[in-house]
Amino acid sequence: MEENIKISVLISEEEIRKRIREIAAQIEKDYAGREITFVVTLKGAVFFACELAICISSPINLEFVQLSSYHGTKSTGEITVKHSIVDPDRIEGHDILIIEDIIDSGQTMQKLKELVLQQHPASLKVCSLIDKPKCRVVPFEGDYVGFTLNNEFIVGWGCDLDQKYRNLPYIGVISQE
Ligand code: IMP
Ligand code: MG
Repeated sequence: MEENIKISVLISEEEIRKRIREIAAQIEKDYAGREITFVVTLKGAVFFACELAICISSPINLEFVQLSSYHGTKSTGEITVKHSIVDPDRIEGHDILIIEDIIDSGQTMQKLKELVLQQHPASLKVCSLIDKPKCRVVPFEGDYVGFTLNNEFIVGWGCDLDQKYRNLPYIGVISQE
């Protein structure tokens, strides 16, 4: 029940913003002024994508896709495309950077990479705020990762528990009291 939920700060807002600035600097260097197309996964990666985009001086184009694999605190492993606001003309021949909130089992990113590759991008990389490599059920490696965590369930900075807590300014861990 909601009143029994306690959220403790795992990563502070300051640490998150600092790390995002570091990733932005790395991306800026790697893409050397070329336009980057962000394919942002809805809804969780929106907060991270906006902050990251603002910290990058190269031109950035935004496309959005919503995939679904997660219900409550347990991954189902079935990946479906719920909504796509991706212009195919903005993929073919372009440098694509998928922006994700969390890489967990790896299945969502594996599927999305496969879908984007079918549209022949010039390059394709994945940038995720959080990585939980110990939770993989398929092998997957992100190209840019903000923070590496164990298997704790987190909320905030776009990450939700049943659509709640996305707008927390920190990354928090949920504990049931
Ligand atoms: P997977 O890598 O296919 O298992 O799924 C990753 C997606 O599951 C992420 O994009 C999140 O939306 C969701 N997810 C995984 N771990 C967490 C968590 O700790 N908190 C909130 N959502 C999570
Ligand atoms: Mg997600």
